[in-house]
Amino acid sequence: MVTPNPDKSAWWIKDDYSREEIDQLVQWGIEHFWTQNHQMADLVAPGGYNIMVRGEDCYVYDIEGNKYIDAMAGLFLKSIGHGHPEVASAVAEQMSTLAYTNSGAYSSVPGILLSKKLSELATGDLNRTFFCGGGSEAVDIAMKMARQYQHISGNTQKTKIISRRGQYHGSSRGPMSVGSGGRRASGIFDTMMMAGVMQVDPPYCYRCPWGFEDRTNRDCCMQSPRSLENIIKGEGPETIAAFIATPIPSGAQIPADDYWPAVRELCDKYEIVLIADEIICGFGRLGTWFGMQRFGVAPDIMTIAKALTGGELPVGGVMATKQIAETFDNTEGKAGAFQHGVTYGGHPVVMTAALKSLEIMERDNLVENSDKMGQYLYEQAMSVLQENHPSVGFVGGGLGLLMSIEMVKNRKTKEPYPGGPNGEYATTFTNKIRGYGLATRAGDSITLSPPLTITKEIIDDIIGILDMSMTEMEQEFPPDVA
Ligand SMILES: Cc1ncc(COP(=O)(O)O)c(C=O)c1O
Repeated sequence: MVTPNPDKSAWWIKDDYSREEIDQLVQWGIEHFWTQNHQMADLVAPGGYNIMVRGEDCYVYDIEGNKYIDAMAGLFLKSIGHGHPEVASAVAEQMSTLAYTNSGAYSSVPGILLSKKLSELATGDLNRTFFCGGGSEAVDIAMKMARQYQHISGNTQKTKIISRRGQYHGSSRGPMSVGSGGRRASGIFDTMMMAGVMQVDPPYCYRCPWGFEDRTNRDCCMQSPRSLENIIKGEGPETIAAFIATPIPSGAQIPADDYWPAVRELCDKYEIVLIADEIICGFGRLGTWFGMQRFGVAPDIMTIAKALTGGELPVGGVMATKQIAETFDNTEGKAGAFQHGVTYGGHPVVMTAALKSLEIMERDNLVENSDKMGQYLYEQAMSVLQENHPSVGFVGGGLGLLMSIEMVKNRKTKEPYPGGPNGEYATTFTNKIRGYGLATRAGDSITLSPPLTITKEIIDDIIGILDMSMTEMEQEFPPDVA
């Protein structure tokens, strides 16, 4: 039993927990709390179950009192750092004033102010936002919006969606259908997948889908729009509703400068709605407010989530251009209303968390900090890790605070360590860096996406821990050195 803390309404919050309380919580957690993406055997293994109790800017603390640098900002979302008191008090004030309104009938003051603010920050003339509860929902909504827009524009045959192979867009049915193969590999969900989805290979030079070896020759990236055009022509442009992609592909590989303008041109040429999934890249992650601003291209529809509230409360949203929104406005009858409704869309407390978080980001220049610290992190990763460790295959990133380091057994052949993300190498690596106080995904690739509040000193600590851990890993799992 957890002894209540009499000083708190949230009575379970305490400075210290006894050994009995911790053991009891672990037991209840294993039994009742469904941990995502984990197999039970991993959770019950020694040290396999972690309970976090506190967060403070770039750090999180577990129930045993261990302190970690949160090098992934939770899941790419704690942009303003953990435990921001200003968001907490704004949320509490809004919650005790108006804690819910039905977005199917009414709007709210924070909802209106937030949507206005978003249209000022966004690329191009994206100026109306449909709010929802999370990222996967936003991706689903974006695809429905594109299809209904094509339908009411008279393009009734334009129903198919093209996405990029290997990209993650969420775990629900629609996003899984356009997303990477991982979650459907076993075939369990095949009959649930959306029909009319095609995939094109991404601009991913490290493991170039077209077999180019020279990573400095970014021309290979341009094969991706060429393939895209082949697919469009092969399927018939009159059948394609939308193309969906994230600003940079998984693995944080930056596409060539001409990649996005070429995709934009194709979408214009064939009247295809360009959907940018900004769920990770949005809100400063790449050192600009939105990822597509890095490439000078404006999408027609944009999905947002995660860092919109600084990760303080769950949120999702879909932004559409004025032209798309007005096409709905000018359509008479039922088809003029977007056919979607969600209970939690535009929740006033969530809107408040987002407004306050954006205010803090602007005031504290966090987008600029992401740009500056991102460069520093990338330089350190290249000069300390890539330079000294033969098991570092590729350092992806260089724009803002989104990096991915691909580990390989053989740098020349790019052969990965066996076992993938759940193998012995990956598990040992993750446990090792955790033991040194670094919380992130490690293994066959290491994700680095810390809060945008990060400083040089904390980056040095991250690099130091990785350097030390890689040295030990290379002793335990020696890479092939040519
Ligand atoms: C690019 C991208 N799109 C969509 C999603 C799905 O968001 P959520 O987990 O909030 O459903 C994610 C989640 O990580 C994502 O990275």
